[in-house]
Amino acid sequence: MATFNELVFSGVQPTGNLHLGNYLGAIKRFVTMQDTHECIYCVVDMHAITMPQDPKDLHRQIREVTAAFLAAGIDPTRHIVFNQSQVPQHAELAWVFNCVARLGWLNRMTQFKDKAGKDRENASVGLYAYPDLMAADILVYRATHVPVGEDQKQHLELTRDIAQKFNNDWSASIAEHGFGDAFFPLTEPMIAGPATRVMSLRDGAKKMSKSDPSDYSRINLTDDADTIAQKIRKAKTDAEPLPSEVEGLKARPEADNLVAIYAALTDVTPADVLRDHAGSQFSGFKSALVDVAVAKLAPIADDMRRLMADPGHIDAVLADGSARARVLAAETMNAVKDILGFVRAR
Ligand code: TRP
Repeated sequence: MATFNELVFSGVQPTGNLHLGNYLGAIKRFVTMQDTHECIYCVVDMHAITMPQDPKDLHRQIREVTAAFLAAGIDPTRHIVFNQSQVPQHAELAWVFNCVARLGWLNRMTQFKDKAGKDRENASVGLYAYPDLMAADILVYRATHVPVGEDQKQHLELTRDIAQKFNNDWSASIAEHGFGDAFFPLTEPMIAGPATRVMSLRDGAKKMSKSDPSDYSRINLTDDADTIAQKIRKAKTDAEPLPSEVEGLKARPEADNLVAIYAALTDVTPADVLRDHAGSQFSGFKSALVDVAVAKLAPIADDMRRLMADPGHIDAVLADGSARARVLAAETMNAVKDILGFVRAR
């Protein structure tokens, strides 16, 4: 069995404001992975245009996601931070994968069904082929581990199906070119799980979302200390004090959410939080939550503002990351061309 060096890849779409859900479910985990793995973090601007985007907003949001990565503590010199459109091999490999994936596989993707809605005839072909581009993002680096949220699990399964079919369909050529019995790894998803699933501050049954019309439903990564405090104080709760056991949170989605946020921000479990706060009224618990949220998030917001004031620096980080990513991606793409039988210049 072929073995692959461990490599982490993940991507974030530059669409809409980043919020606490993106931070706890994705970016904060990206930061942690840096100590144990080589990591490649990508701002997936080509995925963004599968839905309509205003060019000026898109331009600003690409820089803003990059600023969030840096402000949160991702080191772009030890690892790679870049935007997808600067590395043409993503689109190139996606085309190959369009020829590997089956219509039947893509027809099952629930994200496409949700985003296309009722008027499926009018959805872009890009929205339909989105998962093939995502598989290409990952496999153009032959990445072995991908930290993502629960909602991306199906796309990761498709990525494995594509890798497996490629390995099978071209097995003879893969061996002939010296790549053993598998060219692409079967990438492991690292699913965040419900503990890092952040719900709306106004409705504990809904996910925190950039598209919720109420800004009070979410904490944006760019919110300043006063705004963070105000949103937490106004967050929906119930009338009971906090329970002493996690079971006591079961039928109390808003309480459960605030405890989960506190736990995730302070790197402890919800049971740990309840051990310290059992019997507290929400007025008191919210004050404690404001303190930890402001301590963790306000410096990130400040840093993002500082970084956004110097777009030249952000663009240079992306250019440098893209140049290093292109070297790795070109190596994979050349091998893929050889395996497929394409003629290329040497
Ligand atoms: N589809 C992912 C999302 O919406 C973003 C993404 C694109 C991604 N390419 C990726 C995530 C590759 C992980 C790996 O969240």
